[in-house]
Amino acid sequence: MNILPLKIHNLSYSVNGNNILNNINILSDEKKITIIAGNNGSGKSTLLKILHGLIEIPDNIIKWGDYSIKNVKDNQTMVFQTPILLNRTTYENLNYVANKKNITEKNYVQKIIEKLNIKDIANVNTRYISGGERQKVSIAMAIIGDPKIIFLDEPTSQLDPVYKNEIENIIKNLSDLNVKIFMTSHDVSQINRIGKEIIFLDNGNVIYQNSVTKFFNEKHCSLINNYMNYG
Ligand SMILES: Nc1ncnc2c1ncn2[C@@H]1O[C@H](COP(=O)(O)OP(=O)(O)OP(=O)(O)O)[C@@H](O)[C@H]1O
Ligand SMILES: [Mg+2]
Repeated sequence: MNILPLKIHNLSYSVNGNNILNNINILSDEKKITIIAGNNGSGKSTLLKILHGLIEIPDNIIKWGDYSIKNVKDNQTMVFQTPILLNRTTYENLNYVANKKNITEKNYVQKIIEKLNIKDIANVNTRYISGGERQKVSIAMAIIGDPKIIFLDEPTSQLDPVYKNEIENIIKNLSDLNVKIFMTSHDVSQINRIGKEIIFLDNGNVIYQNSVTKFFNEKHCSLINNYMNYG
């Protein structure tokens, strides 16, 4: 299943007459990590939710290769900006997702727990775990079933440098295993470290799309300059 290129054709989205995304056009053939950047309220989470299929739009606007969003639904997962977990242990949360995906492999959840280095909290109710641990558990949930695409909405915001590094490594490893990653980030040094392509939104418009290397070597408008200087 070849899910690239991603083609978004004239995507607009509004709620109660407020335009949140304005006539977005994106063509991306990037296999590695694509970063969605932009100021607060620029439409990043909304765009990810549309790509994820949580917000529904007409079929012909977005294509993954020859496939529609519905065709790729079972091959993609999303880690939300505010992770939602069940009021149960980490293990039970992961097991719930594995069951929902009909995974019967023995010790599958245990392997995921080891991979994400979350053994210590496996039997703790997720309501007691820290913010960074929540991020890790939700990434663990997202990789169950080996999706081809993972959307991560600010997966390292509010994390200390050690956790951030750990999660960046997990994301890079996924990308090296050919998982297509779309993630939002406000962290300019992070964009430089792990991003390969960047799509910059302002007020619901795509104002820049290019390789991260070019992004850091080009002259920009004051809005992007400010973002780069203070991010
Ligand atoms: N269902 C909705 N109803 C009304 N307004 C909405 C709705 N969803 C999003 N918005 C508005 O659309 C704009 C874009 O929201 P979005 O969450 O996509 O921004 P963002 O770029 O992810 O911001 P942040 O960096 O703060 O996470 C915001 O102004 C938000 O208030
Ligand atoms: Mg957001």
